[in-house]
Amino acid sequence: MRWMNLEKIFINGGTPLRGEVFVGGAKNAVLALLAGTILTKSTCRLENIPNISDVSIMLHILHQLGAEVRRVDKYAVEINTKYFDSGEVPYELTRHCRASCYLLGALLGRFGHARVAMPGGCDLGIRPIDLHIRGFEMLGATVTFEKNAIISMQSEQILGGPTHVEYSVGATINVMLAAVRASGVTVIENAAKEPHVVDLANFLNSCGADVRGAGTDVIKIHGVKELHGCEYAAIPDQIEAGTFMAAAAATRGHVLVRNVIPKHLESISAKLLECGATVEEFDDAVLVCAPTRLQRCNIKTMPHPGFPTDMQPQFGALLAMAQGTSILSESVFDNRFRYMEQLLRMGAQVKVDGKVAVIEGVEQLSGAQVKAYDLRAGAAMVIAGLAAQGVTEVESIAYIDRGYEDIVGKLRGLGADVARRDVKEYDVGEDARLAG
Ligand code: UD1
Repeated sequence: MRWMNLEKIFINGGTPLRGEVFVGGAKNAVLALLAGTILTKSTCRLENIPNISDVSIMLHILHQLGAEVRRVDKYAVEINTKYFDSGEVPYELTRHCRASCYLLGALLGRFGHARVAMPGGCDLGIRPIDLHIRGFEMLGATVTFEKNAIISMQSEQILGGPTHVEYSVGATINVMLAAVRASGVTVIENAAKEPHVVDLANFLNSCGADVRGAGTDVIKIHGVKELHGCEYAAIPDQIEAGTFMAAAAATRGHVLVRNVIPKHLESISAKLLECGATVEEFDDAVLVCAPTRLQRCNIKTMPHPGFPTDMQPQFGALLAMAQGTSILSESVFDNRFRYMEQLLRMGAQVKVDGKVAVIEGVEQLSGAQVKAYDLRAGAAMVIAGLAAQGVTEVESIAYIDRGYEDIVGKLRGLGADVARRDVKEYDVGEDARLAG
């Protein structure tokens, strides 16, 4: 018989959130910037770096590969990759973080070759990297797939030229990383327009790159020979901000979400307004209030500036308690509704058919034991628990730690009755092995 410690988030729901919350640096931007530091041999000082596990993993990877990584203070880090090892990056390092695939573009851009294991990350359906590979090939790289899922790339010279990435955020970022030091001009057509793509371009330009058009669907990169170091502050996290906005509305609260770029939140604000909440914009904050029950709305996830797929589960939780029937369509990933079965455990009425969920809003959810299936699904469970009657226990919270810094502390600051606690649970797997 074996007992094991499991850390869970316990939420005693039903308290409207009130007060102010401060949003950290954008996970997805920071992960791209960290990979970008490989392209210069000089020191980069990055600020607004959140303390989340995805960032720790990426810093660990850089350190393991020979970078000097120094935490300057809680939110700033200095990185120097002068003595970087251009050898193989094994699966032990890439398995926990999808953004480790940016090492492909960054290593190719710096050394002209790369050997990196296929990345891990959240399971949102099949997540191929064929568009990244095609982009590298268009820049002149020869790509081979070796045993142990190692992707190997080689190029005599990275050549600028036209590339087409069919709107993939990751492929856009990877091709940018590979192309900033190419010979000639690279034109990325159908580029992703997400805020973190723009942030990476701004960071690279601060290091002496010549990247134009980021934020539109055509990015032009004039290759430069060398990059230098810089000081750069990452943008605030659009999705962390959106999560607190949704939590405020779902609990019929009144929350000022600070350190945001309101423009990045427009599609989220628009849906909250449609549901009957109020959203007031300030220079770098938004105030969300919802004194009464929210109304239904339909949502289809789209690339930026459309409604982000990374906010779909949080709105799924919110709409489960809204008045009327909502239709939620997922157009980016294949498998992003698994969290709905957890909402069913809390009393939600939901039917999922492929990439469409039909949600009949119920007056009240009830606390239950639920699981975080992935990062944003975990955030959805927390929102559902905050608004539900009774106690919700969320397990597998390591997923939540990947993208939310101290979510429990921030929610307690807003008056929520929430705590992280270790609980002892019986390991059924061990029992089954003994029986076998
Ligand atoms: C990034 C974000 C993720 C967000 C997503 C969409 C990071 C680290 N992650 O993920 O949080 O949810 O953008 O905004 O920034 N695809 C292919 N082939 C490829 C690449 C992608 O078929 O080579 C497909 C994917 O399976 C998916 C769709 O294209 O269905 C979009 O993926 P993509 O935009 O590349 O997302 P990620 O970069 O993985």
